[in-house]
Amino acid sequence: MSKWVKVVKVADIGGEGLGIAFSGEQVLLVRKGEEVFALSGVCSHQEMELCGGEIEDEAWICPHHGARFGLRDGKALSMPAVEDIRTWAVKCEDGWVLLEEE
Ligand code: FES
Repeated sequence: MSKWVKVVKVADIGGEGLGIAFSGEQVLLVRKGEEVFALSGVCSHQEMELCGGEIEDEAWICPHHGARFGLRDGKALSMPAVEDIRTWAVKCEDGWVLLEEE
């Protein structure tokens, strides 16, 4: 059974994203306006950290070689990444980010 876990304050997520450890995995939190997204913190290209990149439209750009991943579904949108990355369900309550733990 899944449960929602409070992880960080929404305000703590800067423009370069915020990397956290969650449920044994590295997770990247990204804020776009009022929305927060949770993606794998590890790029599927060379397993480097995705934190430190930037948003472009509906995608996150890896800071290392520029691969782009869909914010909503983790889909690999451009080379050099060819594998999608994981995403987590997110909700925000009272200024906090909650992730769904499985
Ligand atoms: S490690 Fe992300 S594009 Fe190479």
